[in-house]
Amino acid sequence: MNRNEIAAQLEFFKDIGVDSVDVAAVGAVGEAQARQRAASRIDRPGAHRAPLQLDAIRAEIGNCQRCKLAPTRTHIVFGSGNPDAELVFVGEAPGYDEDQQGLPFVGRAGQLLTKIIESIDLKREDVYICNVLKCRPPENRNPEPDEVASCNPFLRKQLAAIRPKIVCCLGTFAAQTVLQTAAPISRLRGKFFDMDGMRVIATFHPAYLLRSPEKKREVWEDMKQIRAELFRLGS
Ligand code: URA
Repeated sequence: MNRNEIAAQLEFFKDIGVDSVDVAAVGAVGEAQARQRAASRIDRPGAHRAPLQLDAIRAEIGNCQRCKLAPTRTHIVFGSGNPDAELVFVGEAPGYDEDQQGLPFVGRAGQLLTKIIESIDLKREDVYICNVLKCRPPENRNPEPDEVASCNPFLRKQLAAIRPKIVCCLGTFAAQTVLQTAAPISRLRGKFFDMDGMRVIATFHPAYLLRSPEKKREVWEDMKQIRAELFRLGS
């Protein structure tokens, strides 16, 4: 971890009111995770297939015209990160910055997501990040059912290609879409569900945390659960 990453991690801890950390325990978990990650990338059956499968899914999306968001978008935001990730984050839809750059979570909410990821000793490059919708809804309005219906098959294919151990849904739309439920995020967050061989957990969306920073504590609890579950599942 370089100086900037350590500073970001400490800043997130300060934000959420953590004033002391058991350095020995965190270090031991971090080292074990790093060993597991290295081993699982090499040994996992089918490792190295995921990048090709993701390329094929991106090619299938093409210059998508399947829903009414096509004429208003600048870029399709497919997803980015480690194609062999053990942990995938699913957000709602690209915002202004993501639409401009064609990359997920690069605006203010994205910077907070990076800190959240680093709070459990992972780097952004270790995980994969994508959204339910691949195109920005005008004025960042909520995704509409026909848009979710058009895009959801591609999210499912991305998850099937990566086969992460854990999927972390960010906010209501991601949680409800991935888990196929109408339950509110307040009821869904903080616990694991099983889906197609993956463990799925939901937490608050980083954009919501920017408006309601007092909720960061709960996100920290969810992240600790993710770290423990990754450790438990091993390689
Ligand atoms: N919010 C999201 O849900 N996704 C992004 O990529 C950016 C902001």
